Amino acid sequence: MTTTMTDKADQAGQASEIIARESRHVLQTYKRNPITLVRGQGVRLFDSEGREYLDLLSGIGVAALGHAHPGLARAIADQSQTLIHTSNLFYHPLQGQVAERLSELSGLPRAFFCNSGTEAVEACLKFARRYWFTKGTPRREFIALDESFHGRTFGSLSITSDPHYRDPFEPLLPSVKFVKTNDPAALDAAVSNSTAAIIAESVLGEGGIKPLTPAFADAIKRACAKSGALFIADEIQSGLGRTGYPFYFQALGLQPHLVSVGKALGGGVPVGAALVSQEVADTLSFGDHGTTYGGNLLACRAALYVLGEIFDGGVGENVKRVGKVFETRLKAIAAKHAFVKEVRGAGLMWGLDLKRDAGFVVPAALERGVIVNRTAETVVRLLPPLVITEAEAEDALGRLDAALSAAGAA
Ligand SMILES: Cc1ncc(COP(=O)(O)O)c(C=O)c1O
Repeated sequence: MTTTMTDKADQAGQASEIIARESRHVLQTYKRNPITLVRGQGVRLFDSEGREYLDLLSGIGVAALGHAHPGLARAIADQSQTLIHTSNLFYHPLQGQVAERLSELSGLPRAFFCNSGTEAVEACLKFARRYWFTKGTPRREFIALDESFHGRTFGSLSITSDPHYRDPFEPLLPSVKFVKTNDPAALDAAVSNSTAAIIAESVLGEGGIKPLTPAFADAIKRACAKSGALFIADEIQSGLGRTGYPFYFQALGLQPHLVSVGKALGGGVPVGAALVSQEVADTLSFGDHGTTYGGNLLACRAALYVLGEIFDGGVGENVKRVGKVFETRLKAIAAKHAFVKEVRGAGLMWGLDLKRDAGFVVPAALERGVIVNRTAETVVRLLPPLVITEAEAEDALGRLDAALSAAGAA
């Protein structure tokens, strides 16, 4: 199909109309990139002007199976023609199946379903408080990390460190202590018999793709053993195969009492979950928590499909294989550009930490047809779909390299 000058003008007109309508009616809380995405296919996205992009971000770690995955599309379509939602007042056949699958993967026997990452974190915080309340020795305090990101609702925001996100909404939960990321001594000093739970992302995502170190994982184990505090692993970004493990806490030899998951779980259909140990589950009662949509049939059908593809359909192995390509190529890129300070990550979760603000990389990559993201100011974050092939990875990283060369020279 050829695109004429008139078509192009029409498409550009449509894009500016879309942007103008949003700017009139959508609450302006997001600073968007100036492109309008209309279609996807695997690792590729297409904008309203027909330009093609290789997606190294997958909607911030969500589109694990890529875009317009035929099997996922069929599963969602089939479920929507059968039954989408019934509420949690009734049983349906799928919620238990997803919970069972998550239990096999995590070692935590129970799941509570919700609709987003922040809700999964909220559930974990509430369950931790409920645990201590039921035991008859209420504990309020949470310990979190100083580069953490756990979400935007009040509880999650209270354990998120960035003042830019927090300050306009104070007062938040008062009983939160922040400790320096990967500083075992700081954690040892902070934990006490008032600590209800320690919460940490196994790989800090927004904080700049920083895996917890083995020494810090040991400190978490020590702190929990010493104080009885629960450990909550936030695996919303790092979980479900992204790092080459079902959950990155497994790479660290940790066994959390609670785990939050979200993002990739529905492959784009909003669904999150709090995974819960039996010890914690035993302290909860009917009515302690709930949500209307949580774990409805549509979300669970999508989750079952996504988990099946990742853990039985070869996608998990693909992460390990293509993850090596990412590691090798990114290390070569870092060696070539003097302004790259460090490469961090695992599997298909990577950050290029620069010696300067990484904002300039995003438009330079977009110009070359690659979607990446900046986080923690200096970090170029890469969270490609887990189905990306070696050839696609080579192509996309070649373009990122060119973007860094052009932008770095500017
Ligand atoms: C580690 C982590 N926790 C929690 C959240 C919040 O998830 P959501 O945006 O789905 O509420 C995010 C989102 O980026 C995240 O990366």
